[in-house]
Amino acid sequence: MLRSAGHEVSGLDLGLYEGCDLGPGPEDIGARAPRDIRDAEARDIAGYDAVICLAALSNDPLGNLNANLTYDINHGASVRLAAPSFPRIDAT
Ligand SMILES: NC(=O)c1ccc[n+]([C@@H]2O[C@H](COP(=O)([O-])OP(=O)(O)OC[C@H]3O[C@@H](n4cnc5c(N)ncnc54)[C@H](O)[C@@H]3O)[C@@H](O)[C@H]2O)c1
Repeated sequence: MLRSAGHEVSGLDLGLYEGCDLGPGPEDIGARAPRDIRDAEARDIAGYDAVICLAALSNDPLGNLNANLTYDINHGASVRLAAPSFPRIDAT
């Protein structure tokens, strides 16, 4: 959807489900090397106009297995990335 609107899109993802696809994906999703959102640094988002945060442990069984881990990723890392205190650098 974003690409069809003319935006350049790439992904920062840990790749937990890499190789688990039932078939080929719809297109190259622009994924970079696997990266944990909890380790995200200013350089990871430098030059981007916007960040859409979808990195998450997104199902209830995973949450039940380790609630703190889910909280750290889904809440803590997302809030840290969005906070005004997260360091920003220019891409240039
Ligand atoms: N799919 C839906 O219908 C739906 C609906 C409403 C809300 N959401 C929410 O949207 C978000 C994404 O959902 P989804 O269906 O794409 O989930 P998904 O499980 O398919 O994808 C989550 C992605 O996050 C990555 N990830 C997990 N931990 C990470 C980490 N520490 N660092 C970097 N990447 C990490 C995984 O590798 C995976 O690719 C979730 O928060 C989910 O709750 C999804």
